[in-house]
Amino acid sequence: MCGIVGYIGTKQAAPIILDGLSKLEYRGYDSAGMAVYDGVGKINITKSVGRLKILENITRDGETMPGVCGIGHTRWATHGVPSDTNAHPHFNEAETITVVHNGIIENYLQLRKMLTDRGYHFVSETDTEVLAHLLDYYYKGNPLEAVTKVLHRVEGSYALGILFADCPDQIFAARKDSPLIAGQNEDGCFIASDVPAILKYTRKVYYVDNQEVVRLRADHMHFYTVDEEETTKEPVFIDWDASAAEKAGYEHFMLKEMYEQPKTVTDTLLPRIKDNDIVIEELNMTDEEICGVSKIHIVACGSAYHAGVTGKYVIEGLARIPVEVDLASEFRYRDPILEEGAMVVVISQSGETADTLAALRESKKRGFQVLGIVNVVGSSIAREADNVMYTWAGPEIAVATTKAYSAQLIALYLLAVKFGRVRGKIEDMTYASLLGDLRCLPDQIELLLNNKNKIQRFANRYIGAKDVFFIGRGIDYAISLEGSLKLKEISYIHSEAYAAGELKHGTISLIEEGTLVAAVSTQPALYAKTISNMVEVKARGAFVLAVTCEENKEIEKAADYVIYIPETNPYFANSLAIIPLQLFGYYVAVGKGCDVDKPRNLAKSVTVE
Ligand code: M6R
Repeated sequence: MCGIVGYIGTKQAAPIILDGLSKLEYRGYDSAGMAVYDGVGKINITKSVGRLKILENITRDGETMPGVCGIGHTRWATHGVPSDTNAHPHFNEAETITVVHNGIIENYLQLRKMLTDRGYHFVSETDTEVLAHLLDYYYKGNPLEAVTKVLHRVEGSYALGILFADCPDQIFAARKDSPLIAGQNEDGCFIASDVPAILKYTRKVYYVDNQEVVRLRADHMHFYTVDEEETTKEPVFIDWDASAAEKAGYEHFMLKEMYEQPKTVTDTLLPRIKDNDIVIEELNMTDEEICGVSKIHIVACGSAYHAGVTGKYVIEGLARIPVEVDLASEFRYRDPILEEGAMVVVISQSGETADTLAALRESKKRGFQVLGIVNVVGSSIAREADNVMYTWAGPEIAVATTKAYSAQLIALYLLAVKFGRVRGKIEDMTYASLLGDLRCLPDQIELLLNNKNKIQRFANRYIGAKDVFFIGRGIDYAISLEGSLKLKEISYIHSEAYAAGELKHGTISLIEEGTLVAAVSTQPALYAKTISNMVEVKARGAFVLAVTCEENKEIEKAADYVIYIPETNPYFANSLAIIPLQLFGYYVAVGKGCDVDKPRNLAKSVTVE
């Protein structure tokens, strides 16, 4: 996810662009850049790795880049590490065509080869640079024609801002599957990835459609189809306040991020399924090497550890490889036994968690290859791991993780199914059905999110709760761990997760009249067992909330309130059952008036021991 801003008008462009980018830093903040037409024939470009602040300092808040027409970008690296060279804008060799881009050009390798064969030289590792050279290739004096020709050639997603030195009075923009808006006031016209970037200047906004091109001039803008046909468009008048708008209309980043989960799951999953086969190129492992893995050690902290606990059940079940899961803070000091053939997998959203990084280093020191499942591109864990499997969740701002956790689950499922298949543990029909179930997850998550009102009503009853217990067996225990953490970290209500069979070894004495027990039961083989545990707590006065599968109607006899999840393979049930539990934690915290996005005492990234 990146942010783009453009301005053309009667005012100085650079300060407006910098101001707009500052509202988009939530979209990415590993590097930033600007291109401004200097008014006498040249496009000046300044870019820098690091936060936007650095670009502001280098350009003295835009003063060093005079001009009334420009584009800017704040980056969240996908292709190529964060660096000055990989930062946007990108340009052709003559620096007469400049591009900022949000999205992923999927066929960039093919295009890069085609252009290299024709003598074009690339300086960055990005997918975006192909756009600058491709525009150069097609530009024969008509910029609109060049833009549309390029759009016909590229596959993937994009929101683009483009400057042609030949056309100093115009900015071109286009989008497909990445957000882009245009806006206008009496001083000029704007483009941006999101409304807050321009809300200070105008509330008159045009939502650019998929595969639509915009030509902006100082006093008007024109919209075109990718076949150069002009279209008309009505503006929308924005009446949100600016701070709410940064969250795209959501009350909290956490809610917004929960709603991004269908996309996160799609983005992490689909690029790794090719021709009905799981292809994880980043693993860099031959089938022979996969078959040689004798044990997997998963190491992580917090929610990433909970994803790892699920991973243990799924990998052991599908690939029949023994898995040990460790808290990174324990692993690093317990002198772990890593035998020949063992593989270490560290999981981290931020890629900066000190204990996880230390565990990675400890494993490497002992001569073991480490696979990182990481969200933040270019982070320390991503740089130091031998191989990196990225979770494409985009920047996560709320301290309580939701979408990154969901993406971690997907990465682990992919590993489990891939390893199981390669090791001959999954036959053809099961393989096809597992892939089919994986593909259904985004829509099923969406369905559960749309059920939020029911959960909100239920959550409102528990705003005053003192203790809540989450119980489950097997994968359901792993889900309970995460459900419990979500509730306690943002609502400050004490909660604990227990393996359901363990309750009667002590914990059941804590159950009092009205204590809420959330029982997760998604594993058909264990339905009856969990129902008996529900009956035990109910008999001691507990109010029992059940999260289960649609087929398990029997549970209604033992539960006071039931939330059903759609049908999926039991190994993937966590991805669905966690949604109502996230919503529950969120709405209890909102009801209590807690600072949901920034809970007390916590930080998004724990870079100390
Ligand atoms: O960035 P990481 O995934 O390494 O972070 C690990 C934990 O600190 C993190 O999951 C934490 O538990 C979250 N706040 C939970 O919502």
